[in-house]
Amino acid sequence: MTDAAPNGLPAPLGILAELTHRCPLACPYCSNPLELEGRQAELDAVTWARVFREAAALGVLQAHLSGGEPASRRDIVEITAAARGAGLYTNLITSGVGVPGALLQRLRDAGLDHVQVSIQDVEPESADRIAGYRGAFARKQELARQVVALGMPLTVNVVVHRANIARIREMVESAIALGAGRVEIAHVQYYGWALRNRAALMPTREQVRTAMAALDEVRAAHEGRITIDAVVPDYYARRPKPCMGGWGMRSLNVTPSGKVLPCHAAETIPGLEFWRVTDHALADIWRSSPAFQAFRGEAWMPEPCRSCERRAIDFGGCRCQALAIAGDAAATDPACELSPFHARMRALAEEDAVAEDVPYAYRGREAVRFEAEAPIPIPVP
Ligand code: SF4
Ligand code: FES
Repeated sequence: MTDAAPNGLPAPLGILAELTHRCPLACPYCSNPLELEGRQAELDAVTWARVFREAAALGVLQAHLSGGEPASRRDIVEITAAARGAGLYTNLITSGVGVPGALLQRLRDAGLDHVQVSIQDVEPESADRIAGYRGAFARKQELARQVVALGMPLTVNVVVHRANIARIREMVESAIALGAGRVEIAHVQYYGWALRNRAALMPTREQVRTAMAALDEVRAAHEGRITIDAVVPDYYARRPKPCMGGWGMRSLNVTPSGKVLPCHAAETIPGLEFWRVTDHALADIWRSSPAFQAFRGEAWMPEPCRSCERRAIDFGGCRCQALAIAGDAAATDPACELSPFHARMRALAEEDAVAEDVPYAYRGREAVRFEAEAPIPIPVP
């Protein structure tokens, strides 16, 4: 028996627990907000344990322990045990930096079910430059091997952009060689730091086309042995993705300080009111908080979505992208070719894709403080 809403609202499937915004890496496509929440504001482990119990009672099945780098927290083992103790399937989403073997073993013993690690490139120098951390490549490889050696399932996440898209096949092959059971190909989503770095990250349409063909080949070569998920990047798509599986329909995103968001970029939308786990029960937030209500269902939809037969498939696309490109979070996602802003989005992509010598803007180095057992990082100059 769960606390799921009585009015036909489904229970959320997952909770993304952003345990901290602190991270040793500084990836230029980071989806964290430009204004990061500081350590002083972070929820303590006792509060997280209560949130996980409330999530399980609401019907949530999976807890994604994320950040920043979740292992930046000294109490990561305690938090993981609390999520598992609440009956949730636990997935650690880690940079792979600062999770030494001993810590990984303790996490497994605490009930950690799954590890997801991102790789930036197959060329170490390029990978370290993208991560903004010298030695990141080697550490990620080592962590991935340790996960497999401990018998835990591993997902490798590959974030694709201009600097690495030519090696998409090699990155997938590398993930398979590491023992990953699943590879997720994620083209950069242009929110947060990625939006700021768009001119440095955007690939050309031709690069995307070549990469998708390479992916088809590698998928065929490994069919039945590994799951490879990938979608066409929004800026070159004809229809939008069903962002978040529909606003406020599938998941909860809890920030380090306890604000509950319908998606990771929701705070970019002006005027939304977010409730906190320190003020409200999670079930009340899911059912009634103004931010979750804002774009639920179809009543908010403008034309052409309102009368479109795909509105129950893609839900009008992504609200945060509509805001970023059309200046209106309630507009049709400009990734849709029926949007009046679609041509603008394509033009932005084509303009950014040929911008030359654009340096990465790395997120604030003041955020690069690390508490786990790894040494202080040495930023790439
Ligand atoms: Fe989706 Fe709206 Fe485009 Fe229809 S008009 S395909 S619902 S974004
Ligand atoms: Fe916010 Fe898509 S990222 S709705």
